[in-house]
Amino acid sequence: MTSSAYSPQAHASHLAKVFAQYPIEITHGEGVWLHARDGRKLLDFYGGHAVAGLGYGHPRWLAALEGQARRMAFQTNALPMAVRERAAARLAKFAGIGLDTIFWINSGAEANENALKLAFKLTGRGKAVALEQGWHGRTAAAGAVTWGALEKWYGFPRRPFDVSFAARDRPDAVDAIIDRDTAAVIVEPVQGVGGAYDVGTPMLQALRRRCDEVGALLIFDEVQCGMGRTGAPFGANFFAVIPDMITTAKALGNGFPVSALMLSERLAQQLKNDDMGTTFGGGPMACAVAEAVIDTIEADGLLANVRQVSAYLRASCVQGPVIGTQGAGLLLGLKTSRPAKEVQQALLEQNILTGTSADPNVLRLLPAYILTEGHVDQLCAALAAIPA
Ligand SMILES: Cc1ncc(COP(=O)(O)O)c(C=O)c1O
Repeated sequence: MTSSAYSPQAHASHLAKVFAQYPIEITHGEGVWLHARDGRKLLDFYGGHAVAGLGYGHPRWLAALEGQARRMAFQTNALPMAVRERAAARLAKFAGIGLDTIFWINSGAEANENALKLAFKLTGRGKAVALEQGWHGRTAAAGAVTWGALEKWYGFPRRPFDVSFAARDRPDAVDAIIDRDTAAVIVEPVQGVGGAYDVGTPMLQALRRRCDEVGALLIFDEVQCGMGRTGAPFGANFFAVIPDMITTAKALGNGFPVSALMLSERLAQQLKNDDMGTTFGGGPMACAVAEAVIDTIEADGLLANVRQVSAYLRASCVQGPVIGTQGAGLLLGLKTSRPAKEVQQALLEQNILTGTSADPNVLRLLPAYILTEGHVDQLCAALAAIPA
């Protein structure tokens, strides 16, 4: 049997059974469309969990990947490479908020792990603060600051440091929880798993002010909401609050694994050799891809498209079981009168893929930035056909 004829659905799987799976086998994609083995063509409002910002098979992304693979697929950080420097400069300029030093790694959790480690090392303190409903990844430190992880899946015998969780909508309560023992406050400006929930300017400003008062470091986890998804380069730009560090991943590589830790000048100046390290981080293919993603977002005017299509979506999709919207840009939560899982299933039956979230009444949309109003019309028509 050739590999193209192999169907996982028809065989006993050798994969670890840790993911609930949809009953569709994807063979390929183009733009915002997914093609399934059974011949179905699905409109993708999930984007591979917020990864496919440019959509599938973007020619500029493909050219960068192929060109770099032919020139040099991998090289260690010990050997300087122009593409690594160029991509770092490009990312710093794209953000434009003075977080100009970049450490490349491979995944969202790894970026957060390094951000937290650096915060503890540089402040010499022992406590982190995170927000309720926040999600930061599956590793020891990232899981420790993830809301509900300890009860659900954490696995390690204890957290590696003390963690306090603050209510996500109580700017007035942050003073009591962030103190002079706090090394870092980690927050998603728009929570992803938490329900595409926009934490908002007053809360982020309160966190910034309190961190400055007590000397704690503010980390924005923009693994999901960064890289243009809000219609601004980062949530930091969108909400006009500048943290000490940003972590980002997902749409940064559009499917090639790459993440980044972005640091303020003040923190960067304190770094010494071996404070952080990685084998694969900063690999030339990851860097070529990140550079191409940023070039494409800018050249194709995708930030403006995200803003326009998001506004259209919010204005037109309160239909059928949808009773309201939350979030920002193309990280949107549709509040549903019925369980979001039922709405998701009903949309899937109409060949539209969407996501759910930790909130049982929020359907999560994370489509590619190339989405058009025509695609939104298809979603709205499908929603209108679902009983409220
Ligand atoms: C906000 C946020 N932070 C961190 C992570 C972890 O990223 P990764 O799965 O690449 O480790 C995720 C993944 O969903 C995320 O949404």
